[in-house]
Amino acid sequence: MMGRRTAEPDSSWDEVPRLIRAGMGLPQPWEKLFGPLRATSSSGILAVGQIGQTLDGRVATLSGHSHYINGSAGLDHLHRLRAVVDAVVVGAGTVRADDPQLTVRRVAGPNPVRVVLDPRGTLGGSARVFAADGTRRIVITLDGTPTRSAAEIETIALAGSTTRLEPAAILDALSARGLRRVLIEGGARTVSHFLGAGCLDRLHVMVAPVILGSGLPGLELPPVARMTDALRAPVRVHLLDDEVLFDCDLSARRAAAGAANKSR
Ligand SMILES: NC(=O)c1ccc[n+]([C@@H]2O[C@H](COP(=O)([O-])OP(=O)(O)OC[C@H]3O[C@@H](n4cnc5c(N)ncnc54)[C@H](OP(=O)(O)O)[C@@H]3O)[C@@H](O)[C@H]2O)c1
Repeated sequence: MMGRRTAEPDSSWDEVPRLIRAGMGLPQPWEKLFGPLRATSSSGILAVGQIGQTLDGRVATLSGHSHYINGSAGLDHLHRLRAVVDAVVVGAGTVRADDPQLTVRRVAGPNPVRVVLDPRGTLGGSARVFAADGTRRIVITLDGTPTRSAAEIETIALAGSTTRLEPAAILDALSARGLRRVLIEGGARTVSHFLGAGCLDRLHVMVAPVILGSGLPGLELPPVARMTDALRAPVRVHLLDDEVLFDCDLSARRAAAGAANKSR
């Protein structure tokens, strides 16, 4: 299904989702933004995380309101990310807080498969992410969790701890179903799980010129004692209107477990 455009039409974009899937070069300015998301091997997984945050590193107000931290350029970029991946993954917390649609309605391109991490099977079928709009929908739960979703929504039950689904197992399960280029869209806890497990090839951090001074934190990893132990990655920086995109290359610390890292 093709997304409805609400952004300023830019015909140079229209072929990009197809060209990426074909492993081909992209017209500028898209090559510098999305070229790194081209997988080099048809058997490889490409996992990209994204987070939209304020200048002071918040992803939502304390009450969980995040619509919208980012402006038009940041939202267009997010929808373009959705258009070039096979599947978009969100945690149950984001579905509860935002009731997102996860479509590409702001730009041209195909809607990705929608994947929700709902380990305890808490979500009802009325969430918009489960809307029957012709797009494939998948719920990932912990093994043994009773299924509550409608029959046409696929359920993947994974072994794990009592609360935690392993990010590498999630990527492997999606890859086995033909979903190899995956966007980990949020929220912060979900992206942090993938980052901490070494299961992201790239991370797009979109910083908006907004200061909240309070609110929900962005990425969180286990504490380190010294700055020398902080995660530093090669980064490309892009200015999108008045927002700054940090495109972090995490390929050097990609975990060997799970599917291969084939990004470039
Ligand atoms: N600024 C942004 O870019 C952005 C993007 C998305 C969302 N948000 C905001 O972020 C907030 C929600 O984010 P959040 O961090 O609280 O929640 P979240 O990451 O959306 O969801 C966390 C929940 O998802 C499930 N989950 C995720 N990863 C899992 C794993 N590896 N293993 C097992 N379960 C896993 C768990 O469900 P259970 O709770 O059922 O155990 C977990 O509590 C909202 O306020 C939303 O508005 C901001």
